[in-house]
Amino acid sequence: MYSKALFFTRQFSNSTKEIWERFLCNSHRTLLKRFLQNYHDVTNVILKNTEITRNHLTPELKLFLLTENCPLYHEPFIDKRIDGTLDFLTRNVFQDPFWSIYWPGGQVLARFILDEKERILGSMTQNVKKDAIRILDLGAGCGAAAIAAKLTNKMSKIVANDISKVACIAIAMNAILNNVDIEVLWENLLEKPLEDSYDVIFVGDLLYDEEIANTLMTWLGDAHERGAQIYLGDPGRHGLSKNFKKRLRLIRRYSLPENVRKENHGYDMATVWKFNQT
Ligand SMILES: C[S@@+](CC[C@H](N)C(=O)[O-])C[C@H]1O[C@@H](n2cnc3c(N)ncnc32)[C@H](O)[C@@H]1O
Repeated sequence: MYSKALFFTRQFSNSTKEIWERFLCNSHRTLLKRFLQNYHDVTNVILKNTEITRNHLTPELKLFLLTENCPLYHEPFIDKRIDGTLDFLTRNVFQDPFWSIYWPGGQVLARFILDEKERILGSMTQNVKKDAIRILDLGAGCGAAAIAAKLTNKMSKIVANDISKVACIAIAMNAILNNVDIEVLWENLLEKPLEDSYDVIFVGDLLYDEEIANTLMTWLGDAHERGAQIYLGDPGRHGLSKNFKKRLRLIRRYSLPENVRKENHGYDMATVWKFNQT
């Protein structure tokens, strides 16, 4: 009798792994490769259960995502599956798989980064050297905003941060897939005052509840005072309160692609906001 775990193993196509191995082999991204060397097992689970796709608002980027073509996509409540149908590692990797979805807020933010490089760079103070710009993608998920930022400004130093270690592994994989060098940081930056200073901070779809939105507002306020230009992408999440909106200026609204609307029940549009002075 075939177990369901075997079903999943059998369903994934070898080509994802083959494509990945080719990229990995040809990649000169030494630090990212070294980082991934410690996580072969997690990398393999990601390869088995996701597909490489450009079917989103930023087709310039290839991303490992859990799409409807992946059997695991159709399994609800992966974290509750303790009945032996998924192996332990797969359950852990996909426990809170925010990184495996490219969220509407992140999609419009990355689209904006790719479309509006001059506008983003132009808003920075004169004394920031263009080849020493420091950019943070906070709550990076799959890392798309960070990758888009590096693609549009090769000289900048990009940090993709997420509290999920699996997300950081996926970000490193996606960076290699898109042939860019970014730094991956696994840490909760919101728990302490900002130590490093950043010229630009991108925040994609992180306003999913009021608690995180409140913490974020204070933290971003500090970063803004230290000179950071801050852009947020959001489809109208719960945490985007009236109070929060007072600190934001609408920069651009995007219509979401059909597949993204379908996946994000009821969200047709998403907005890029810029964080302002109080
Ligand atoms: C809804 S996802 C958005 C991911 C990505 N920015 C996008 O738009 O596709 C939110 C991400 O934020 C991460 N996250 C939550 N709290 C965080 C924190 N305090 N610091 C960094 N990342 C955080 C989660 O692990 C998750 O990957």
